[in-house]
Amino acid sequence: MKGVVLAGGLGTRLRPLTSITNKHLLPVYDQPMIFYPLQKLAEAGILDVMLVTGGFGTGDFLRLLGDGSGFGLRTLNYAYQEKEGGIAEAIGLTRTFVGDDRFVVILGDNIFEDPLLPHVEAFRAQQRGARVLLKEVSNPQDYGVAELDGDRILSIEEKPVEPRSSYAVIGVYMYDSFAFETIAGLTPSTRGELEVTDLNRAYLDTGLLRADVLAGWWTDAGSSIDGYLAANVRAAEMRRAERKIRGQA
Ligand code: G1P
Repeated sequence: MKGVVLAGGLGTRLRPLTSITNKHLLPVYDQPMIFYPLQKLAEAGILDVMLVTGGFGTGDFLRLLGDGSGFGLRTLNYAYQEKEGGIAEAIGLTRTFVGDDRFVVILGDNIFEDPLLPHVEAFRAQQRGARVLLKEVSNPQDYGVAELDGDRILSIEEKPVEPRSSYAVIGVYMYDSFAFETIAGLTPSTRGELEVTDLNRAYLDTGLLRADVLAGWWTDAGSSIDGYLAANVRAAEMRRAERKIRGQA
């Protein structure tokens, strides 16, 4: 199983914090934002990772993360996304790296509490198709939204004005190599991007899309300044709890 972390984009929703830097390099409590997804993958035993970046500060990622050994990774590979082509385009850039393997994608601004391993295990057991993670939220219109019937997904819409449920499709996606053929056939949305929601819909159409609902907290630190603040507060609480467990409170 390979890992992919997406860390491109212009971070327009966090300006002026992101006027001259990449949002994934901003601090979230005591660490750069990009540390969190890399730690999640390493903790789940996913040790060969590709980081896709673009926009501001791309060289800074190399200086900050190096060969990934600081996170316990076996290899850390880098890809460059030239334009704002969307999440699905960025995933498409990892095709050679992933090969015929399966892979877990994390959007670099998604910070969450639950360990990834149980979801990765469930995906391994599933053998084919894709798996997405959901979280119930009070503002589903800001995200991809899944309509559910029990644990079956009926539909997925990107930032719907009238959401059919309160389940956000968070920025953690698990795919097989069918994803690359699908991405090659996608057409840009009205905002000119290849949408990850269209990729997920293609899996939904084949009947091979599964989903898990997260139990713990989830934040999209890049979606708004309030999301960024919430991520900092959550990370601080998490660090305090860790110190308590270690008896350092
Ligand atoms: C992206 C996806 C959206 C998803 C969200 C999670 O939105 O397009 O489906 O729910 O990430 O963070 P973005 O934040 O790039 O607008």
